Amino acid sequence: MQFPRTQRLFSRLLHGADYNYEQWLDTPDVLAEDFRLMQAAHCNVMSVGIFSWAMLEPEEGKYAFGWLDQLMDRLAEHGLSAILSTPSAAPPVWLSQAYPETRRVNTNGQRDPHRRRQNFCFSSPIYRQKITAINRLLAERYKTHPALLLWHLSNEYGSYPCHCEYCYTNFRAWLQRRYGDLDALNRAWWTNFWSHRYSSWAQIEPVDESNHGLMIDWQRFISDNVLDFMLAEAAPLREVTPDVPITTNFMQPDVGLNYWRFAEHLDVASWDSYPRWHQGDDLTIAMQTAFYHDLHRSYKQGRPFLLMESSPTVTNWQGISRLKKPGMLKLASLQAIAHGSNSVQYFQWRQSRGGEEKFHGAVVSHLGGKQTRVFRDVTEVGSLLQRLTDVTQTTIAAPVAVIYDFENEWALQHAQLPGSLYKNYRETCQRHYRSFWQRGVPADVISAVSDLSKYRVVVAPMLYMLAQGTAERIEAFVKAGGTFVATYLTGMVNESDLTFLGGYPAPLRRTLGIYAEEMDSLTDQQTGRIAACDGNMLELRGEYQFQHYAELIHTETAHVLAAYDSDFYAGNPAATVNQYGDGQAYFIAARTDDQFLTDFYDGVMRCAGVGNELVGALPMGVSASVRSNGQQRYVFLMNFSDREQQIMVQTGMRGAMDGKPADAFVTLPPYGCAVLVKESENA
Ligand code: GLA
Ligand code: ZN
Repeated sequence: MQFPRTQRLFSRLLHGADYNYEQWLDTPDVLAEDFRLMQAAHCNVMSVGIFSWAMLEPEEGKYAFGWLDQLMDRLAEHGLSAILSTPSAAPPVWLSQAYPETRRVNTNGQRDPHRRRQNFCFSSPIYRQKITAINRLLAERYKTHPALLLWHLSNEYGSYPCHCEYCYTNFRAWLQRRYGDLDALNRAWWTNFWSHRYSSWAQIEPVDESNHGLMIDWQRFISDNVLDFMLAEAAPLREVTPDVPITTNFMQPDVGLNYWRFAEHLDVASWDSYPRWHQGDDLTIAMQTAFYHDLHRSYKQGRPFLLMESSPTVTNWQGISRLKKPGMLKLASLQAIAHGSNSVQYFQWRQSRGGEEKFHGAVVSHLGGKQTRVFRDVTEVGSLLQRLTDVTQTTIAAPVAVIYDFENEWALQHAQLPGSLYKNYRETCQRHYRSFWQRGVPADVISAVSDLSKYRVVVAPMLYMLAQGTAERIEAFVKAGGTFVATYLTGMVNESDLTFLGGYPAPLRRTLGIYAEEMDSLTDQQTGRIAACDGNMLELRGEYQFQHYAELIHTETAHVLAAYDSDFYAGNPAATVNQYGDGQAYFIAARTDDQFLTDFYDGVMRCAGVGNELVGALPMGVSASVRSNGQQRYVFLMNFSDREQQIMVQTGMRGAMDGKPADAFVTLPPYGCAVLVKESENA
């Protein structure tokens, strides 16, 4: 498939930062130094204009593009490209005051004052009118500018609820489109409970946490409404600059937006990554960061994404933020590339002198100049990326997918279960993902509505909500030879949060060959035991522990792999497999320990014929990833531990930087990394 719009974007690995030129207009020597330093650090791109509305339109209808013209020209002169942002993330104060209806209203009906950023109502017609006007002017002005590389819509769209009349009107219209009539809505939300029945649309106010159907739909609406805003502000850009690609920077996915729907309208996915290194277990942080990178790769079906922001050193908003140890910046940067990013970009280029983020780390600090450890580290990353240009054309073909579904997460957040304290949905998805990550087997992170057919193994932890059609697609996947894994808390409610009757995991009961009768919930201090069954096909051995959840299930057509070994349910099945069609469907009934998951997935991978033949068994602390293009396979080896590590690699590889043949054992220093290349045998 050809993607002409991203051809130029992906012609090299991008290296750059958020750059706030407009904060330094009265110190020309600082600006001149910036461009010298950008070249010294091997930067080729800057994200600009992100919070510049007040500088671009200082008074309503009076525009001041002069400084941006100058910035764009200077970028081009210095061989840098611009990722140009639309300014919607921070309205100027004149706008909030002239049009109070652009400010959000809280649950008590009070309108917020103008403050901070991302402080506007996504439904406000006048806000949309103002932002599309300035976006059109930006597009017209820079459409042929050589520096313009990529549009950056707004900044970190969020799901900020607003209770104004515009939002309520939109929400009620959204509900009318979804349900048609009030009876259908009343049925879907089970409103005869606690006398919640509605007799007119106008009665519906999304302020009742106890009405879960309402709350999930409100979240869906907020997400759709922000998407609608995004499309409105993108429209003039698409019209005036049809060849310029568009992105918006996503965040870690706990923001209440269904990013999958946003990604459909973007040419490239991008995100802002701020892992908390060196505060505890770096290995878990590395695994979680890998999970998020893989999610961002999956948004566009495996196409490269961009690491739009990362801190070259510390942040200022995480309470504690530790300095990156020697090697860590390079390692974290390379990890993004290893998982499919075509860029390493930072927040921010230069530390601002004032404002809330003045102590946030930057490539150039208040100290100034390039004689700093951070600047040297950034420069090293830049030179590394220059030597890895061919990686831009590679992709990652993951045989495994972990379903981590946002709507399921929203539904679980509201669910009042007997064991509500330790739901930990995302953490659970990551614990399952870890088994693949630690073996160097690439996994996509997908939603419950993603296409499953390209995977060998699909893992769906805690898929509590099964929207119409999901179970059918999973069933078809298994029938056709796929391997599927489900766990406790699966298949309990439909998309309206109405429970299934007749035995969870209701619509998956036939595929999994089991049904659940009861659920035991344990306190955080309690654990239970599971024992492997003799001769089980996954080669599980001995005893394992579980915590928090123990579902009591009955097998129908499934075979038992492990059974409970504690409490009154000792002997009941705890893990099962069902042969279904040409595939296998596994069920894990309890929240097991990591050892169980490691052994379980080693067995699953063996049975499904999934592995990474390029590297030997990876020592604890090391991860490996492969990007390939048919001719070459780039093998990224990453040591997230504070010890030296040795990794055995397949013969016939060479160093991607120096071209030298690699030894059978590659030694990585603490927080060290290496890139090897393997030419394809069929090339
Ligand atoms: C976010 C924002 C940036 C900045 C950084 C600080 O990612 O997009 O504008 O505030 O955080 O870490
Ligand atoms: Zn509103």
